[in-house]
This record gives sequence, C-alpha cells and structure tokens, in this order.
Amino acid sequence: MSAHDPKTYSLGETDSIWHKLTPLLKDPINPMQTLLRMSEKYGGALAFNMGNERVVFLAEPDHFKHVLVTKEPSYIKYFDGLTPIFGKSMITIDGALWQKIRVPQQAAFHPNMFEEYLPYLLKSLRSKGDRWAGLAKTGETIEMVEETWTLAADMVCRALFDREMPFNPHFVFGMVKAYTNVNNHKSIRSKLQDEGADTDISGEKAHKAMSEWGSIPDKVVDANDLDHRAKTLLTMLKAAEADPAFPEFDHQQVVDEMKQYLWAGTETTALTLAWCLYLLTQHPEVAAKVREEAQRVCGTGEPTWEQAQNLTYIRMVLQETMRLYPPIWGLIRRCAVEDEVGGVTVNPGDVVVLCAYIAHHSEKYWEEPEKFIPERFSPDRMKARAKYSYLPFGGGKRSCIGGALSQLENGLALAMLYRRFDPEYLGPVPARINPTVTLTPASLPFRIREL
Ligand code: HEM
Repeated sequence: MSAHDPKTYSLGETDSIWHKLTPLLKDPINPMQTLLRMSEKYGGALAFNMGNERVVFLAEPDHFKHVLVTKEPSYIKYFDGLTPIFGKSMITIDGALWQKIRVPQQAAFHPNMFEEYLPYLLKSLRSKGDRWAGLAKTGETIEMVEETWTLAADMVCRALFDREMPFNPHFVFGMVKAYTNVNNHKSIRSKLQDEGADTDISGEKAHKAMSEWGSIPDKVVDANDLDHRAKTLLTMLKAAEADPAFPEFDHQQVVDEMKQYLWAGTETTALTLAWCLYLLTQHPEVAAKVREEAQRVCGTGEPTWEQAQNLTYIRMVLQETMRLYPPIWGLIRRCAVEDEVGGVTVNPGDVVVLCAYIAHHSEKYWEEPEKFIPERFSPDRMKARAKYSYLPFGGGKRSCIGGALSQLENGLALAMLYRRFDPEYLGPVPARINPTVTLTPASLPFRIREL
C-alpha cells in the first residue's frame, strides 16, 4: 500500500466524496428521501455548491442517457476518496486504457461460462445452508448483510478465482465498511463524539483497515487452486500480467482488479439478497410464491443449469428489490467539458451524481412506486417501461460487467436457502438506511428458522 498517497487514508477531507454526502444525514431513517423530496420540489436537475465544489444531481432518465451514452466521453469516472479501495482497477479509469484493461477479463462474464460456475456457486450455498442449520438450532441473532456478504465473497472466490476464501470476510469487510461510512467523516465524528457517541474508526484505524485490504488479493493468488481450472478470471488476469505486449497490466493491476471484484462484485450482490430477505418478511404473499417456484422448478434437489434458467418469478423479485433498494443509489462522474443537462449548465470539474434511487421511486415512471410488486418486471410489462428509468447496473458502455452473474448467484441463493429456511426479521420497520456510497441498511438483524 506504500504506493498510495497517504492523503487517501485520511477521513473527512472536504474534497472527498464523504463530505459531499453529509447533507443526506438529515433524514435518519431514509436519507434517500431527502433527495427524492428535493427532486420533486425543484425538478430533476439540481446544482449545489458543496464545500469547494459544484455538484449537479440529475434524476431523469433523459439525463442518465445523456451522461452515460450520448456524451459519455465528456463525463469521466469519479472515485475521489475511494483510491485505497479500488486502486487503479478498470472501474475507476476511462478512455482507451479502460477498454484495453477490460478486454482480457470480459470472457469470464460471458453467459456461456456460467454453467461451469454452477457447481461452485452451489458449493458455497451448501456451506451457507450448513451454517444456517446450526444457527437455527442456537436461535442466535445475526446481521443479514454479513451473512450474504460472506456468501457472495465465497462465490466469487470459488467460481471466478478457483480458490477457497483465504481471509475472514467479516473482519475485512467490516473494517473497509467503517472506512466508507459517512458517519466516520471527520466533522461528523467530532460532533458525534461531542454528543458522547462511541464512533468506531479513527484515522489510524482507517490506515490499518486499508493496509489489510490491500494485502487480500495476494492472499487469494497464493492460496491453493481448488480444481486447477485452466480458464478462470484469475488465470485471465495472470495471463494479461505475463503478456510482454501489455506493460500497463503489471502485478499492481492484477491486485487492483481483484480488489474491485472482491468489493464491487460482492457488496452489491450481498445487499440485494439481504434487502430481498427483509422485503420477503414484510410480504408473506410474495415469500410464498418464491418458495412455491423453488419447489416446483427444482424439487428437493439442487438446481440444474436448466432449472436455474426457469426461476422466472424469483428473478422478478430480485429486480423489484433492486428497484426499491438499488445497491448503487447514484452513479458519480466528473464533467470534463462545458455542457447543459435538464436546463442546468454543467461546468468542467463539476461532480455529477445520477440518482438512480430517485428515478426508481418516481411516480412518473412507476405506479405506486413505494410498493413492492415483483410483477412489474414480468416480460409483458417490460416493454412499456421508459428507457433508462431503471438502472441498478448503470448504463451505456460502463454498465456492470457482473450483473447477469449476480442475478444467477442470488436466484440460486433464494431457491436453495429460502426453500429450506424462514429467516425472521427482528429490527424496526422500515429498516433504516445508512448513508454510504452504497445503499446499506443501518442493521438487518435476523433469526434463522428451519422449515
Ligand atoms: C446486484 C449486484 C450488482 C450491482 C447492483 C452492481 C452495480 C454496478 C453498477 C451500477 C456499475 C456501474 C458503475 C458506474 O457506472 O459508475 C457496476 C460496474 C461494475 N461492476 Fe457491478 N454490480 C453488481 C454485481 C457485480 C458483480 C457480481 C461483479 C463481478 C464479480 C461486478 C463487477 C463490476 C465491475 C468490474 C464494474 C466496472 C465495469 C467497468 O467500468 O467496465 N458487479 N456495477
């Protein structure tokens, strides 16, 4: 980690993303509602001066298309404050280099690879099932995001890297999450401390968390391969590193790509499943249909590849979950050239936030937007939907590389785990949202019951 500027370790700089997110803290139950109300009151394009920067919030599908597709080269990726988490991985870079870095990895996400991943995903689910059977006996309270995050990380390690997870995900992700939590922003931390609250991270701890995080990819690379598979994402990354014609793809690039997958590819998937399990506890009629489909399609055995394709209702439930709780609630860019969007001038250097959450909750695009209705995503109703009004995986050429894989992972998880267990939610309703760059619950305490 010595290669990184020490500035990236400090929390609460006014030029970091955390500072800009602090106004969201005004609503302690759901900070996103503040954005929604502002958008309804002032229209879909809003510019603010925040600290030393101008931030433009955009909330209309037309704006999303403009920034992500029509004028895509004019809007570059914005990852200030997240350098220690993502390094120089492809999610953070732009232009020709981004394209060059993405090409050698693309094949690992082609759907024709997914059938090969199935046994590894099922293995992770079997071990989660064993753990939940134990938890059902003790009746202890668990944090659901920790459960789903370990599951998603185990799936990525097995399916994409051909490794068992050689680190303790609760510890590692807990530390990194503390780093990204807006509540740990310097000014907020001091305020909370003045009020007598016990905040959970200091600058020194943040530094340690990021050092530990930076060491994880090499631990994965150095672990034994499970099945000596010739073509995995990890072998593709290593082949790019070994290619003399590709000097940009050095060892640090491999490390950073892996950090990106272990974070962007696991937290988002885990949040979707955790929010989904919460929503199912509030909608028993949907929960019953999920179980009915899992049993009808897969019987009592593990899903085959063909059966996994036929979990259509479960897929709709996951899509509706990501509408209500998009794990990436806003896509962030920095404007490179002067532009105009929705009647607002955007200057070079402005930070632009595309608020997927607002479009997903807008009455303009969804009937009864606050209701959980998976049938909205039935194939016959999809055509009527306004383009770019639903963006859980982003849009344009920078959209998520792993979206389809995450749907497979979570579809299998619901089919396997929900058929056997009835997780009981023990927290307040509605569940509180914690403001970070992802749409994270403050807490989702559950007790596992076996059916
Ligand atoms: C429900 C699960 C997921 C959600 C909601 C999600 C969401 C997103 C979004 C919104 C973006 C675009 C960000 C932007 O434009 O600024 C993105 C990019 C990305 N995602 Fe995902 N993601 C998910 C799962 C995954 C998985 C399973 C992987 C891989 C294992 C993955 C890897 C990536 C990568 C590498 C990028 C950057 C692509 C590029 O810039 O070329 N994601 N994701």
